[in-house]
Amino acid sequence: MHSRRALLYMPGDNWKMITKSITLGVDSICMDMEDGAAVNKKAEARATIVKALQELNFGKSEKLARINSVGSGWEKDDIDAVLPYHPDGIVIPKVESYDHIEWASKIIEAAELKHGWGINSIRILIGIETAKGILNLKEIASHPRLDAIIFGGEDFAASVGAVRSKDAIELLYARQAVVVACAAYDLQAIDIVTIDYKDIEALKIESELGAQLGYSGKQIIHPAQVEPVQTSFTPNDESISYAKRIVETFEASQKEGKGAYSLDGKMIDMPLLKNAQKVLERAKAAGK
Ligand code: COA
Ligand code: MG
Repeated sequence: MHSRRALLYMPGDNWKMITKSITLGVDSICMDMEDGAAVNKKAEARATIVKALQELNFGKSEKLARINSVGSGWEKDDIDAVLPYHPDGIVIPKVESYDHIEWASKIIEAAELKHGWGINSIRILIGIETAKGILNLKEIASHPRLDAIIFGGEDFAASVGAVRSKDAIELLYARQAVVVACAAYDLQAIDIVTIDYKDIEALKIESELGAQLGYSGKQIIHPAQVEPVQTSFTPNDESISYAKRIVETFEASQKEGKGAYSLDGKMIDMPLLKNAQKVLERAKAAGK
């Protein structure tokens, strides 16, 4: 699976931002036809994304296109416009049921067959950002085509009438529900946007909390957010070497017949081994 520590949006109609995005070394670039594109710019967004997919070299960055939500009336034209140019993935926002994913999955599979591309060569990421989306997570997350769930904090707050705050306490239940669903189905979990993009300190704090909750990445909206977010979602050297020591010592301790043992004055047993292995997996995915 492509590493998605940072997923950068820009309005799909903004050619300047799209060309800028490919110079940033960001994991994922998401050209938006949904809320980032004004209602009178939907057609222009489709055409500009098509041009980008045809003409630009995205290098190692993943190229994603976000369509409008299923039922918006725009979704079919959006997906039909971009699919022939093989984006790496389609992002479906405001998913509320399994059927929303199934709708896109069938269209994508038909395109893959038609063009002779590998099945599943175009990935699906979804936004969960409404009360219904949270309630139906169990079924939604089980879709076999799914790669990642993106938690939309602002839309979710609007959906339940929550008042947004800096520490995002009002989002905690839903934010954790998304992480749990992702862990259960082996999906990436991509956290909320820090909309106050000039406040890099706040961004770092929010990123660390997201990583602490179990998120593997974060949505971003500005070039200045790329580096701090990618760093926050990459295990640091200290945690990598500690994880390595746990893995090494765990095996020796098992051979001695001890399920639990002491390392640096702390108790180590199976759950700590599993967590250490997760740290090493994430480090590897980030190229460390
Ligand atoms: N992707 C790529 N480039 C971006 C960018 C983005 N999301 N946001 C800003 N830039 C570029 C600008 O074009 C500018 O480029 P330049 O130096 O070559 O002229 C540079 O980064 C600095 O931008 P800045 O002036 O600080 O920001 P701004 O005032 O132009 O834009 C926002 C601020 C918030 C409007 C803009 O960042 C944005 O539209 N972000 C994406 C919003 C979005 O897609 N929302 C929907 C999903 S949540
Ligand atoms: Mg949203």
